[in-house]
Amino acid sequence: MSNETNRRDFLGYTFAAVAAVGGAASLVGMKKAWDPLPSVLASGFTEVDLSGIKAGEPSTIMWRGKPIFVLKKTAEMESSSRDLVVGEDRFTIAIGLCTHLGCIPAWKKNMWKCACHGGEFNASGKQTFGPPPRPLDLPPFSVSGTTLVLGEEGPEYKKIAAAMKA
Ligand code: FES
Repeated sequence: MSNETNRRDFLGYTFAAVAAVGGAASLVGMKKAWDPLPSVLASGFTEVDLSGIKAGEPSTIMWRGKPIFVLKKTAEMESSSRDLVVGEDRFTIAIGLCTHLGCIPAWKKNMWKCACHGGEFNASGKQTFGPPPRPLDLPPFSVSGTTLVLGEEGPEYKKIAAAMKA
């Protein structure tokens, strides 16, 4: 072993150590850049007071740029495995975009009608006429008392999502 070899080894180790530290610092920087800002995370949740909703008249709430339909069903409206049951009340929660090509259906005569190509969805959000290939989609939500929290997947959401897949 010569001094030259030891010196070369030392330079190699030093270079590897500097490269490793630089690589780790870059990864930390990239993660910080990719993570959503706290303000974005906070805006991902929207709370809706279900106790203030009148039966038979759907509310439309904007969540992450999408319309969300919240319908408190009347006693005459047929029940569905998709119903969100809160106390004595049954609700339909749905993303208000037609599953055909994404138009926003309007509530008319106890159903959502899509003006673009005539698609229809019943009060449970199920497609009943026209080209829509599937029911209105379900947004992620959880329930706390009579408050609906859009943006997080609670047990009620998981149960309904599983029923929709069955
Ligand atoms: S976009 Fe609704 S029926 Fe075509």
